[in-house]
Amino acid sequence: MKVAIMGYGTIGSGVVEVLEENRDVIKDRLGDVLEVTKVLDLREFEGDPIQSKIVHDYKDISEDKEIAMVVETMGGVEPAYTFVKAMLQAGKHVATSNKALVADKGADLIRIARENNVNFMFEASVGGGIPIIRPLLTCLTGDVIEEISGIVNGTTNYMMTKMYTEGSEYEDVLKEAQDLGYAEKDPTADVEGYDACRKIAILTSLVAGQQVDYNDIPTEGISHITATDIKYAKKLGRTIKLLARSIKTKDTYSARVAPYLLDADHPLYSVNDVFNAIFVHGNMLGDGMFYGSGAGKLPTASAVVGDLVAMARHIDKNIYLEWKEEKLELEDPSKQSFRFFVRAKATAAEAEGAFGKIEIVDAGIPDEVGFVTDVMTQSAFDEAATKVDVKKYIRLA
Ligand code: HSE
Repeated sequence: MKVAIMGYGTIGSGVVEVLEENRDVIKDRLGDVLEVTKVLDLREFEGDPIQSKIVHDYKDISEDKEIAMVVETMGGVEPAYTFVKAMLQAGKHVATSNKALVADKGADLIRIARENNVNFMFEASVGGGIPIIRPLLTCLTGDVIEEISGIVNGTTNYMMTKMYTEGSEYEDVLKEAQDLGYAEKDPTADVEGYDACRKIAILTSLVAGQQVDYNDIPTEGISHITATDIKYAKKLGRTIKLLARSIKTKDTYSARVAPYLLDADHPLYSVNDVFNAIFVHGNMLGDGMFYGSGAGKLPTASAVVGDLVAMARHIDKNIYLEWKEEKLELEDPSKQSFRFFVRAKATAAEAEGAFGKIEIVDAGIPDEVGFVTDVMTQSAFDEAATKVDVKKYIRLA
């Protein structure tokens, strides 16, 4: 079965590596060989064995009748969207690892795939190599998913783990993560939570069955977290993790991406370093958790190859999946309720005057008071926070 790859970067070359390394087992499981015949890239890769397969025009793939399946590992929305759409319209199945494309155009591409009796699969777009999309779409179709809480960004989880274990400052761990190749030179998408936001938008769209606009999800990153915040977290017996959360309400979902303080009983408390984990609560399942390698060349490529095998097994059939294009109105985030940890330039009495019942947290930091509020809505918190000089707040999960 002939396969083309669009984008021969880290993940695209990883797909070639997985298909070569595991050629025999894949052949045994599928009863066919998945053979990469064309690779679309702007570069030539002179001297690389892939060189003879390189093409520069996507039409060399879309018009090639022998190619049944295409992998998209280019990243970004355009030109990936134009190319993927053309492939689906040409009757080719597409597997992608591109969360920006799926979050933005998922509903549209799923409809186009259906109209052309092919499949558009995207297991690698959330959680890298961790199976999460297919479990939600197949194994858990008998459940109403009431909560998804995920550590879905490896870079920031590595950084938060380092800050927690070493007591280091944000800038130092960022530099270390960049030196190790975990964080990009421009780390904004990871550290400001944009990557996690797109991933929870995808998962929420899947469990709600309709389009969630990632712009509607309030998103806060980790760049404001300091070594002092970690000191307070330890005093509270908690750690700080960047979570992407979606909770079912009566009619919709309530979503947020932000750093949260987790206590030791929380299932995501011990998910450290670059690992990812997605906690799911279903109304029949109860609790479930998916843990593993959430990023990186081979784990992500493994998920793409899993999609290729699934598509090869359904080569003449579109597997129905519900993701309506009509936008889901998420719950107003100001109605979400939390306990808040607060650092304020105030006395304990002033803090109590503003927030009502509070629990003081003494981490030995001069000229400020640290405390935890009772459960309150975001809007009530915002109102109370105007009454004292709040330096920082972090929600408890
Ligand atoms: N930058 C992402 C991360 C890569 O750190 O998790 C996987 O999407």
